[in-house]
This record gives sequence, structure tokens and C-alpha cells, in this order.
Amino acid sequence: MALNKAKVITVTSVKGGTGKTTTVLNLAGFLSEMKLRTIIVDLDLYSGSIAAMLNLDKGSDIYTLCEDYMNNRFNQFSDYVAKYNDYIDVLAAPVDPRNGSKIKAKYISIILSRLILQYDVILIDTTHTMEQTNLIALDASDAVLYVMTSDLMDIKNMKSMIAIYHDMDKHNYKIILNEAYPNNGSYSKIDVKNALGENIDCLIPKGFYNHHIDDYVYQGKIMTLDKNVMKSKGGIALKNLLETIIKE
Ligand SMILES: Nc1ncnc2c1ncn2[C@@H]1O[C@H](COP(=O)(O)OP(=O)(O)OP(=O)(O)O)[C@@H](O)[C@H]1O
Ligand SMILES: [Mg+2]
Repeated sequence: MALNKAKVITVTSVKGGTGKTTTVLNLAGFLSEMKLRTIIVDLDLYSGSIAAMLNLDKGSDIYTLCEDYMNNRFNQFSDYVAKYNDYIDVLAAPVDPRNGSKIKAKYISIILSRLILQYDVILIDTTHTMEQTNLIALDASDAVLYVMTSDLMDIKNMKSMIAIYHDMDKHNYKIILNEAYPNNGSYSKIDVKNALGENIDCLIPKGFYNHHIDDYVYQGKIMTLDKNVMKSKGGIALKNLLETIIKE
């Protein structure tokens, strides 16, 4: 299946450490199963870990790409992306985190508008902060996925974020409640739904917590490319969410 123009899917949160990066990798696993050409763009500019988690050679990164673009040295994206498999490419976060702050948001915008013509899906990992580069990604997105836990502060911050979206009359966000989390909060899906006054679009159940996650990271493997994980309740929930987004 190939799409005419890439779907841009950004994974973000209103609090750090809720499972964004893990979710990005898990979604990428399903996208490659769906044979959709996908580029993961790591916009966690100061501590991005996508390339490291996949054991990819970080020969180049988004900082080098922006610098070359600015200085008319850019030729093609393949000079800057690392290949994970036939369907997944990665544009890594700066190898040297000191370069994170040197990236100008305007180049992120230009890069995304060009990548849209070359891939089926652009999957963006972010931080939970409102820095300019993240805002560019949110603006360019067809779907923004908020990965939240049932921690009380997460629920409160998510409620404020929903109010901001409503103020802007924007409705392209989806809520992923991640219960497969080391220190999951004590509120249920119904509690969170009632507190937010919104539907939970995807529940990653407790059972999706994977005790072998370090083995996957050590070997540079994507969990959801493992058939058992793929067919688990959490795997199916993520896949259904993706299929909905791709169809929209
Ligand atoms: N399904 C899971 N099974 C086991 N551990 C998990 C699972 N999902 C996430 N974790 C663990 O939870 C921690 C946080 O996950 P992750 O790094 O994906 O969050 P994040 O939102 O990207 O964090 P940050 O805001 O720092 O970028 C990691 O140590 C990760 O290994
Ligand atoms: Mg992360």
C-alpha cells in the first residue's frame, strides 16, 4: 500500500517519560508490516534515542542536514538518513546534543514539507516541551498522538491541553492511555475519560508491559515486529489506531 502524500504523525505528551519513544518504535513496526515507507524523525533534539535504540550508525543527523540545507550543500535525504529495514528510515537527533539548540525551526518546516513527497508516513518523536521545533511538528501533523499515563498530573495537564486544542478549534489529536508503564497511576480508563471529558482513542493495557524491553533495545529490535507482541491486546490497539489515522 502506498499513499500519495505522507501522513504526518507526531507522538508527544504533556509530561516527560510517558512512553512516547517506545510508542514511536512500536508504531513504526506496524507501519513496516503494512509496507508503508516510513521515516522516523527524532525531534528530541537534546537526548534523542531512536537511532541508539535501533543500533543504527549515527553517521549523520538532523543538525547536519539543517546546516547543509542552510548552506546549499544539501543534495538528497538518503545522505542523512539511516536505514532500519526496507520500510523504516531514521533521521537521527543531533549526535552532539550541544547542536540541538542551533537547529532553526524554519528548517524543520522545510524538511518536513519535502519529506512528505518521499514517504508514506512521517513519524515524529518529540519532547513534552513547547519548544519551537516541536510546535512546527504539531502544526504540520495530520494526527498528534498524546501518550499519557494515569498519573494525576498527567491527567490535569492533558485536560489543559485539550482546552487549548478546543480554543484553537483543532481536533486532530488522539489520546493514548499507556497503562504498560513502570509506575502506572491508579486511575482506570473510565476515570481518565471522565476527568478529561474526552474519549480515550487507544488503551495500551498493563499486559503490554514488557519485562524484556532491555533485550530489544540491546539488540536494536522493534518490539512489535515480534509476532507475539504484534498479536497481543496492546499491539492490536496500536495497530487499530494506526489504521484509523491512515484512513482519515
Ligand atoms: N511497554 C513497555 N514495557 C516496558 N517498559 C516500557 C514500556 N513502555 C515504556 N517503557 C519504559 O518506560 C520508560 C519511558 O519510556 P520512553 O522512553 O518511551 O518514554 P518517553 O515519553 O519517550 O520519555 P522522554 O520524555 O524522556 O522522551 C523507558 O525506560 C521505557 O523502556
Ligand atoms: Mg522519548
